Amino acid sequence: MTTNSEPIDLTPLPIVIVGHVDHGKSTLVGRLLHDTNSLPEGKVEELKAQADRRGVAFEWSYVMDALQVERDQGITLDTTRIWFKTPNRRYVIIDAPGHKEFLKNMVTGAAAADAALLVIDAEQGVSEQTRRHAYLLHLLGVPEVAVVINKMDLVNYSQERFMTVEAQIRKYLRELGIAAKAIIPVSARDGININKRSDDRGKSRMGWWKGNNVVSALDSFTAQNAPTEQGLRFPVQDVYRQGDQRYLVGRITSGLIRVGDQLQFSPGGQTARVQSIIDPGQTNNPSASLSTSLTSGAGQSIALTLDEEIFVERGHIASHRNATPVETNTLNVRLFWLDKIPLNKGDRLVLKLGTAEHTVTVADIRRVIDVETLQPDPVNNEISHNAVADVTLRSRSRMALDAFVDHRATGRGVLVRDYRVVGGCIFEGAVDLAAARHLTAVDQTVTQVERLQANGHAGGVLWLTGLSGSGKSTLAMALQRKLFERGDQVYVLDGDNVRQGLNNDLGFGPVDRTENIRRIAEVANLFADAGFIVVTAFISPYREDRDNARAIVGNKFREVFVKASLAACEGRDPKGLYVKARAGEIPEFTGISAPYEEPLSPELVVDTEHQSLEAAVAKVLADIDRSAIRSGDEKRKAG
Ligand code: ADX
Repeated sequence: MTTNSEPIDLTPLPIVIVGHVDHGKSTLVGRLLHDTNSLPEGKVEELKAQADRRGVAFEWSYVMDALQVERDQGITLDTTRIWFKTPNRRYVIIDAPGHKEFLKNMVTGAAAADAALLVIDAEQGVSEQTRRHAYLLHLLGVPEVAVVINKMDLVNYSQERFMTVEAQIRKYLRELGIAAKAIIPVSARDGININKRSDDRGKSRMGWWKGNNVVSALDSFTAQNAPTEQGLRFPVQDVYRQGDQRYLVGRITSGLIRVGDQLQFSPGGQTARVQSIIDPGQTNNPSASLSTSLTSGAGQSIALTLDEEIFVERGHIASHRNATPVETNTLNVRLFWLDKIPLNKGDRLVLKLGTAEHTVTVADIRRVIDVETLQPDPVNNEISHNAVADVTLRSRSRMALDAFVDHRATGRGVLVRDYRVVGGCIFEGAVDLAAARHLTAVDQTVTQVERLQANGHAGGVLWLTGLSGSGKSTLAMALQRKLFERGDQVYVLDGDNVRQGLNNDLGFGPVDRTENIRRIAEVANLFADAGFIVVTAFISPYREDRDNARAIVGNKFREVFVKASLAACEGRDPKGLYVKARAGEIPEFTGISAPYEEPLSPELVVDTEHQSLEAAVAKVLADIDRSAIRSGDEKRKAG
């Protein structure tokens, strides 16, 4: 079907055709393709002849079946898309009807439709599946919807029957907040009310109908604004290194990036300027495949370089500083559940959000929605197959995201359990814990710039992580002495000390360690805000906890991996704890009976096994002097 998958000149309007499985979606598509001259010459004749040979009556759904066969045989490359055009516009039907992954594709966002046709059988009326599909359109915020009341031939083209079904669906859609552009009586089988040229025949049978046909309804849809007009969102897919250069690769989901732009990376809030943009998307001209550009916009896949080496990894979202995504650990979503195994409060899932992945817990099921009545279901407190629910998700790591109404791409997520897609959700927004508790931040009367000028350096956090006995405390204390002697404001937060005071209620299980690190990160952040160079010495064995600390502290966070093998640490055993741990006297001892996750990309590695204390101190000092802590760049930028 080559003519059908030709490259298109204009951006086509992506549409979906939804509705109950037997209500005639395939027939409608077959007719639509034929009546808009979008089928190759002779295709219908060929299918009619085939039907004749088999002694069966030709049906319009055979067109779809034929497309399916071509797909199965690999003749049509794009397996789910069908193109057609009217004099006004090009269209692409995403996810052809009957495709078995239809709901999953809708929910996972493979199908980002701008418009939908909802097909209803005039005889059968609105079914549960009709409602479910309509609900999905609402859930995914498909902006334009028209309803096709099909099979009018089966009800003798009765105006009365049409009006009954029309009232039914109009009421349901209105409750969902969907205003249908048109609700059209159609006979796809007989080709009535599909396109202009078939109308004449229809007049005799449906003379009472003065409204749109399917094609004129489609042509009345307004295409969505190109998301280039929205705020920038650039979810980072990968970070590559080539020699000294570091490339951030990804696809811009909305807005524009220009060389020289100041970008902010969320979560964490690190900032840097765009140094260059490489546009590998220009692949139709191989010699231009590595060309640079000054501006790139929504939909383009690019690689860019920054003027500063800040911490950025897959999952970060770049934006402009005046319109950043929300950062949160707690999130309200509306979800559509696809899995046979129900979802319950307390369940753990992976939330895929753009290029980021977060382990989340179902903190609350606020309501399960009965899609028949659109009312909260008072009986169900678990979310069963194909159900819709309002849910609160909580993650240990900070998540960067948008409300779906603001940004469709970064405003929705896919839920995964045991490596399977089990649901989709749209974000209603972060749960604003501060607002919920009636809290408002108060501005300080001493500014960051004043502190910087008084101290000669900015505040910052050197986050030392490593096994017990790796030398964190020794290094931290030696550093403190050096920094103090040269007049810097410095303070050490150390595990054994903090655990005797602030955190004396916490043990060494994973949950307590997470809380330990969270509190320390908040305290370190306050110290840094007060202008101090904070050196922290905590095992902080979990990567996610350290990332969370980084998100709390922001740009002024520097992770220092104090590296020594377990054997070396055990050999040193300064507190005699390894001996006790081996004897089973200390449960969950890091390195012995509890894990230590090494940093993947720390700002600095200090190897205490092969380096003297003096060398280690010198290395960290040099790092401080190169960083924004000494130069104060960060504060100047912020100020
Ligand atoms: S962390 O894992 O939560 O970051 P933290 O650095 O605060 O640990 O405390 C580690 C110190 O607590 C160790 O240096 C050791 O002296 C003591 N400790 C006691 N029990 C344990 C344990 N089960 N695992 C590790 N350290 C322990």
